[in-house]
Parts: sequence; C-alpha cells; structure tokens
Amino acid sequence: MAGYLVNDTRKVTTHRFIEMKQRGEKISMLTSYDFTTAGIVDCAGVDGILVGDSASNVMAGNSTTLPMTVEQMIYHARSVVRGVKRALVVCDMPFGSYQVDRKEGVKNAIKIMKESGCDALKLEGGSEILDTVKGILDAGIPVMAHLGLTPQSINKFGTYAVRAKEDAEAEKLLADARLLDEAGCFGLVLEKVPAGLAAMVTKEIKMPTIGIGAGNGTDGQILVVDDMLGMTKGFSPRFLRRYADLNTVMTDAIGQYIMDVKSCDFPNEKESY
Ligand code: KIV
Repeated sequence: MAGYLVNDTRKVTTHRFIEMKQRGEKISMLTSYDFTTAGIVDCAGVDGILVGDSASNVMAGNSTTLPMTVEQMIYHARSVVRGVKRALVVCDMPFGSYQVDRKEGVKNAIKIMKESGCDALKLEGGSEILDTVKGILDAGIPVMAHLGLTPQSINKFGTYAVRAKEDAEAEKLLADARLLDEAGCFGLVLEKVPAGLAAMVTKEIKMPTIGIGAGNGTDGQILVVDDMLGMTKGFSPRFLRRYADLNTVMTDAIGQYIMDVKSCDFPNEKESY
C-alpha cells in the first residue's frame, strides 16, 4: 500500500496480536478518534488503534470518560475505520453500555460493530462483567479487556493514582486476568499498575497485555495520541513520553497565519484565482 512506512501491509488481526506475543514481538498501539489522525497513525505502521472513550477528554473537553454515548463512539470509530487499512481497530464500549446486564451489553456490542465497522471492542472490568464478556464473545465479537486503573470507575476509585499496589487488589487483578483469558479475550490493557505485577500477569496468561503506565514487561504499549504528540497541555503523568511538541508547532503556524492575514501578505497572487 502506497505511503506506508512498514513493509508488511497485511491487515492486522486479533490472531496476529496473539502470534506476536508468542514470538516475542512487542505490539504498538495508539488511540485515534478521527479520519485524518487515524490515517497518519496507520501509515506510520502502528499495530493497533484504539478508538478510546478518552475521546471524552481529548476531543470533547470533559473531565472524565463517563459522558460518552454509544452513538458518539460509533461516530468516532466509523471515522477512524475510514482512515485505516492496516491496523487492528478496537473501539471502547462506553460507560453504561455494558454494565446493566449481558443482554443489553451484547445488543450494544453488536450495534457498535455493525455501525462502525471496527474489528474488536474493549470493555473495562473483571469478574463483575465476565458474563457479558462471554456473551459478546459468543456473538463472534473479539474482546480486549482492561484492568488496573479503569477510568469509567473513577468515581469509585476517587483518584487516578496507581492501582493494585496492595496485595488484595493485585491478587484480584491476577484472578480477573486469568478469567478473561480463559473466556477467550484476545488482549488485555493494563493501566497504571506496578511494573512487577504487569510483568507477572503477562507471563501467566495467553493473551497479549498492552500497558499504559505498567512498565516494560507487558507484550505491548499504548498511549493517547494527542498526549504523545504533545498537543495536550497540563497532563504529564510519569508514564507519558512526549515524542513531539505539536502544541508549539500549531501555535507558531497559526500565529504566522494571523500575521500574514493582518499584513495582507496572505493570500498572494499565486494563491488567488
Ligand atoms: O480510552 C482510552 O484511551 C484508553 C487507553 C488509555 C487505554 O482506554
């Protein structure tokens, strides 16, 4: 495929995620929420794109992920799917769309898959949502799980601090990871947990683990694209490495444009009809 920075342009599948773990190849994931960004991220060769409900924070300016709706996630996921040829596209199920019961969760999962065209879904939680996860898997939909800091439960946690530092929570996390693995999930996001625990869970389960703030012992990593590109400001957790300062690049470019308009430099003759 033209424009791709990787030689292997075959579509990435959930099966290839598992094969990558088996042969020890690290998995790269980033979020995207729109057609243009997703196209750039895909061409750069990332293995998986998450249409995260972090869209609530970075796209809509909310302070939590809770307000996102099924319709909004479908809108973002459909836009991303149009821009992606290679990467696996995973869409978050938003808060409230799968917690009520299995029937409603499966119904919403089918709706998101049908209307967005994404490849898989991600749900936050362990044993509490296992029955719903099984129902979604039974419907033929690949599921990525998410344990540790699960932002949809922020009101229960009361803080975005590191999770599972205490033995009891670490043991529950490991038990949940095993249950979700046995149920047939194809991947597990581990967010903001001690590196030692994440590495231990990674060794214990068949499905690949994708870490964010979970150290280097996971099978892959994920970051929010707007954060790693330096578009967002005022959010600098320890796990975030900024690979660019697009905020400054954009501000400088927009400042130059304003000056060119004010000084009548833009548009010039070549830019006019
Ligand atoms: O919504 C999101 O962006 C996520 C990642 C942080 C894993 O769930």
